Amino acid sequence: MSILSGKKVLLAISAGIAAYKTAYLVRLFIKSGAEVKVIMTPASKDFVTPLTLSTLSKNPVASTFYDKEDENELWNNHVDLGLWADLLLVAPATANTLSKMANGTCDNLVLATYLSVKCPVYFAPAMDLDMYQHSSTKNSIEKLQSFGNILIPATSGELASGLVGEGRMAEPEDIVAFIEKDILSKLPLKGKKVLITAGPTYEAIDPVRFVGNHSSGKMGFEIAKAAASLGAEVTLIAGPTNQQVAHAFIKRIDVVSADEMYKAAHQYYNSTDVAILSAAVADYKPKNTASQKIKKKDAALEIELAPTKDILASLGAQKTTQFLVGFALETTNEIANAKGKLTRKNLDMIVLNSLQDKGAGFATNTNKITIIDKELNEIPFDLKSKSAVAIDIINEILNRIDA
Ligand code: CTP
Repeated sequence: MSILSGKKVLLAISAGIAAYKTAYLVRLFIKSGAEVKVIMTPASKDFVTPLTLSTLSKNPVASTFYDKEDENELWNNHVDLGLWADLLLVAPATANTLSKMANGTCDNLVLATYLSVKCPVYFAPAMDLDMYQHSSTKNSIEKLQSFGNILIPATSGELASGLVGEGRMAEPEDIVAFIEKDILSKLPLKGKKVLITAGPTYEAIDPVRFVGNHSSGKMGFEIAKAAASLGAEVTLIAGPTNQQVAHAFIKRIDVVSADEMYKAAHQYYNSTDVAILSAAVADYKPKNTASQKIKKKDAALEIELAPTKDILASLGAQKTTQFLVGFALETTNEIANAKGKLTRKNLDMIVLNSLQDKGAGFATNTNKITIIDKELNEIPFDLKSKSAVAIDIINEILNRIDA
């Protein structure tokens, strides 16, 4: 489980002997699920080859603004690199690079990129003992921290010079762990357990047929991703759907029927902080499921349907500390119906979709919602992509829980 999964890591290497460790650093980032691009100061190529780093990162490595030897002369755009990155790590950060960063010098691609990025910047100094203790270096480090850059302190040990003391670049495992911990500590849903139901349920008529609906599951999956990216540990109970998700903080549990979804939801509910029930659960299931395929006959076929258990209402009835969110899909008297569901099912919030709104509902990539909270405040939102709607929903929850 790494919070770095899916993150875009830009690694900037400057010319210190610790640069040889960056090959391993790239491997660790890739292993954690991050995407990695590497930029280098020209002199750092004496310590580790771009070929090694491009092979490991699966991306081209840039060390100059353009390659004079290359007849295509592709411009390595530092602004684009800066916009691409979710985080910049300067490792090793030599005394020279630290000083230039602190003073806004911009005479190579690494420095131009550093000045362009808007994302968090981490730096891992590496140099000899006396250089590390020099007032100039200390001054550079303090100045960089005062700009909001994050220091990954050097450690003590035997240095390449043979001297023993402070100045060793933190070990690659420790750098990755430091960044993971730092990111997580700043996320508003860290440590929160979020339970989400998504997709349709299928209620078997016989071994090959079922009663179901057109829910794609997309809304629930987007909510799961939004919650996980804010540090939540997500349990995603999904009915039959083609949606895919690969996030270290999302545990997916596949179910088919309303009964299975009910069991899974109750299994996790006690330890849940926030439950968001976006699944389009079938309200009815065949009273009896035929054990063999039903054969075609000339006469009409009647299938008796029995109600399924209402998962949301049952969780509302058992609610203790959980923040419980339901969905309502309505076609008429939308607000009144949604408010009725909110009260009846003992919810803290309900997300209303109206089928009157174009672009809302099941089969689209967009949705238009109104959120109604426990105090019956109505918060309308514009038509948006389902991923943007998911962020709105999570933000409204965050405004109402202790996080
Ligand atoms: N829901 C559930 N279990 C069910 C049926 C619905 O957990 N068996 C949940 C849905 O996940 C959704 C909410 O209840 O969060 C509202 O579902 P909806 O079908 O709109 O409401 P119903 O209560 O089924 O009422 P109606 O169909 O009459 O509108």
